[in-house]
Amino acid sequence: MASTNYSAINNEHGGYSDQPYGSNSGLAQASQGNIEPYPRKKGLSKWVKIGVPVAIAVIIAAVVGGVLGSRASKNDDDASSSSNGAGTEDGEAAASSAASVKNNIGIYATATNSEYMIPVYPATVSNIALLFSSLPSAVIAVRTNTAAFSEPTFNPSDSAEFAWPQDPFRPSSPSTTNVRTDRPRLFAPAYKWAALPNLIENDVYLRSWNDTIFRNATAYAALEPVARVVDGSSGILDVAREVKMRLKAFSYAYRMSNDSRWSQRAFAELENAATFGNATDRWNPSHFLDAAELTAAFGIAYDWLHDALTQDQRNTVINAMLENGLRPGLDAINGGVNGWWRNAGTTGNWNCVCNGGLTVGALAIVGDDTSGVAQQILNNVVDNANENCANGPSSDGTWLETANYWYFGTTGHAEMASALLTATGSHYGLLDSNPNFVKTGLYHMHAYGPTTVFDYGDHGPNKFSSTANSMFLYATEMDQPAYALFQRDRADAAEPWSMFWYDPTVSGAYWNDMPLDHYFDANTDQWAAMRSSWTDADALYVAIKAGSNQGHQTHNDLDIGDFVLDAMGTRWAGELGSADYNSPGYFTGSDQDADRWKYYRKMTEGQNTLVVGRANQIAENTVGEVKYESSGTKQGGSTVLDVPSDSTAYWVADMTGSYNQASSVRRGVRLLNARRQVLLRDEFSTTADVEWRMHTNATIDISSTTATLTLDGKTMLITVPNPPVGMTMNRAEPVRYESDPAPPEADPLNPGVSVLVIGVPQGQATLEVLFSPQWEGMAEGNFVTPNEVALDQWSLTSHN
Ligand SMILES: *[C@@H]1O[C@H](CO)[C@@H](O)[C@H](O)[C@H]1NC(C)=O
Ligand SMILES: *[C@@H]1O[C@H](CO)[C@@H](O)[C@H](O)[C@H]1NC(C)=O
Ligand SMILES: *[C@@H]1O[C@H](CO)[C@@H](O)[C@H](O)[C@H]1NC(C)=O
Ligand SMILES: *[C@@H]1O[C@H](CO)[C@@H](O)[C@H](O)[C@H]1NC(C)=O
Ligand SMILES: *[C@@H]1O[C@H](CO)[C@@H](O)[C@H](O)[C@H]1NC(C)=O
Repeated sequence: MASTNYSAINNEHGGYSDQPYGSNSGLAQASQGNIEPYPRKKGLSKWVKIGVPVAIAVIIAAVVGGVLGSRASKNDDDASSSSNGAGTEDGEAAASSAASVKNNIGIYATATNSEYMIPVYPATVSNIALLFSSLPSAVIAVRTNTAAFSEPTFNPSDSAEFAWPQDPFRPSSPSTTNVRTDRPRLFAPAYKWAALPNLIENDVYLRSWNDTIFRNATAYAALEPVARVVDGSSGILDVAREVKMRLKAFSYAYRMSNDSRWSQRAFAELENAATFGNATDRWNPSHFLDAAELTAAFGIAYDWLHDALTQDQRNTVINAMLENGLRPGLDAINGGVNGWWRNAGTTGNWNCVCNGGLTVGALAIVGDDTSGVAQQILNNVVDNANENCANGPSSDGTWLETANYWYFGTTGHAEMASALLTATGSHYGLLDSNPNFVKTGLYHMHAYGPTTVFDYGDHGPNKFSSTANSMFLYATEMDQPAYALFQRDRADAAEPWSMFWYDPTVSGAYWNDMPLDHYFDANTDQWAAMRSSWTDADALYVAIKAGSNQGHQTHNDLDIGDFVLDAMGTRWAGELGSADYNSPGYFTGSDQDADRWKYYRKMTEGQNTLVVGRANQIAENTVGEVKYESSGTKQGGSTVLDVPSDSTAYWVADMTGSYNQASSVRRGVRLLNARRQVLLRDEFSTTADVEWRMHTNATIDISSTTATLTLDGKTMLITVPNPPVGMTMNRAEPVRYESDPAPPEADPLNPGVSVLVIGVPQGQATLEVLFSPQWEGMAEGNFVTPNEVALDQWSLTSHN
């Protein structure tokens, strides 16, 4: 397709930049360098001018609304267990007060200087709260239960402005091949499209996402259709996901505007992708993720654009899906070589994305497809996905691959479940056959630090159509309102699935009553997250893992003991991420001598942990015991948390089973000084020299046993209060030791990264490393140097 001019679309939907979305950008404090108060608008000056009185009025309104709201929802609960509520006046008052508070607060700004565009929550709420001390005690009592800063909750109401209606399609005995008769049938049936404009009108989030989707669709429309570019072993996965991202946006824009220019632009994209490459491998079925994502993309477009496409165009789409996706998929199901992802134990993104893509595609055309292929596929996807994909989360909710692969896996899973639910009336166990699946949203929340995620292991390819919006579906379907509240403030929320998976009756604050710490205890990763706040972008955050070096679909590193550390808006100890997926041997197994473990970013040297004898950890390691305790500190409704002085958490792991030349290796980490400092203590007995390694983007200045790290205009002191005999401290380059066996191909470089290396001679030793972020306004005398306490003596009070 050569050069269609899309400027008409561009013009018509131009000028989205000045829409008001409520007043929050005035509340949000620009505590980070480079904040984009989205949307940038007059709200800021209004808040500055009118100032606190308005804030108080809003909060008081919220308080009153909160009183009505909690009473109303109690009544609803008493009257009826139906999630649709009774529609009493109180019910409407609750929903409308939730909506008005939400709309008054607006959307939180996001920090554009963080990789994941972390939301910036207002820090002024506690100042306002102070003023409440002069209010009647009844009002103070409910302050933390206002509609805005209260317990996460759904406010059921049958009022059409605020809530989704019930799906009229409720088959009594659902089957995967028995689809609803109206279209669309996938994700967003007609009744949802009919309700959406009203919901957009009344919900600041939906309004902004709708605008962003149109803006993005406009930008994509101006581009040539995505070209088929092969990226080594990743095939055309990026291409497939970009096509899918675009087709979702075009199809959404078409249905929302009825403007056929969107369906025509979508068809241009479909036609181009239908004729990718040559007839033998258009969608690259040998890397089946690619074929599956394109099948899903075509299925969505076929379904959502059904009334806009001519019969010829529909045939083009169906034939492309059958030839390039569904028939190869059926071969895979029937034992073909490209179907390894169906094998037992493939509990990761592959199984979710491949089963999910085939399901979406087959559901879109079943009934119109005369070949029977769609039906055969639908008879064979659900059991396999329940056995594999649905077990992607461990018993503690941790995604078995990595925190980044969670995005790909849960997107495939959520799309499959939602497509089946909407098209056939059941998810067939996908959402609950694994009773621990629900915890995977909690996993995502704790893996998300104040600056970016705890991104151990591989990061995966570009995300394009993969987002964290599965959080909305899980929130709604698993009754986890906090998941929706968490995700709605994130930048990747603005895409079509959110428009239908998000329940706008949700209210409250996800951080309200949310423990600051969590230990994920499954043997797969045994990891903990500890932080000083859920809402402060400058908060302290430590995440650390042990677990098993195998069983992660070959996406992990040899990284028992690995940690990250955030403070003052900066990541001080970080990850290097994926190496080059196209490097020879990168994915061929995870045995001790696998080539994967010769690449710096995957080997133990490339992690923030201990290296004994300059050797990798044991790949088939014995998982050790972990002891973990937390003071259980929870954040209240306020965005400001005054951390109690005895608030702490610690994690101690026995890592002996991961090292060859050691009779004992133990690592413990704890928060000190009201969560303003961190102590990392290692105790080991080895027959080879030990290196303590940490990777950082900071510049490192070493003086004796103190390292001064500077990054983003901030300073972190790393000290060793009681250096072991013979200890050395150095800055090193993030490269392999010369003595290491060379990998089949050169490592990717790690520009800007330094390694802080603390060397300790072989034998028995203890190494305590104290991290003291130089918090603004914190006097020198307010830092602590803890007494030495052996790891087996650690308790919540051992360092007071
Ligand atoms: C969705 O956004 C588009 C583009 O900004 C706008 O034209 C349309 O009115 C919005 N839809 C609703 C229901 O507000
Ligand atoms: C979609 O639009 C938002 C807001 O303009 C922008 O930040 C984002 O990068 C766009 N996404 C894509 C994939 O273009
Ligand atoms: C688009 O068409 C549908 C079906 O005819 C109609 O219900 C809807 O109001 C129309 N939307 C717009 C924005 O014109
Ligand atoms: C078709 O694609 C395959 C795989 O990419 C390639 O080996 C073959 O040469 C191609 N054939 C033609 C005619 O382009
Ligand atoms: C360095 O900064 C980049 C970009 O923010 C980040 O992705 C990476 O993890 C950081 N590396 C380390 C070692 O902290």
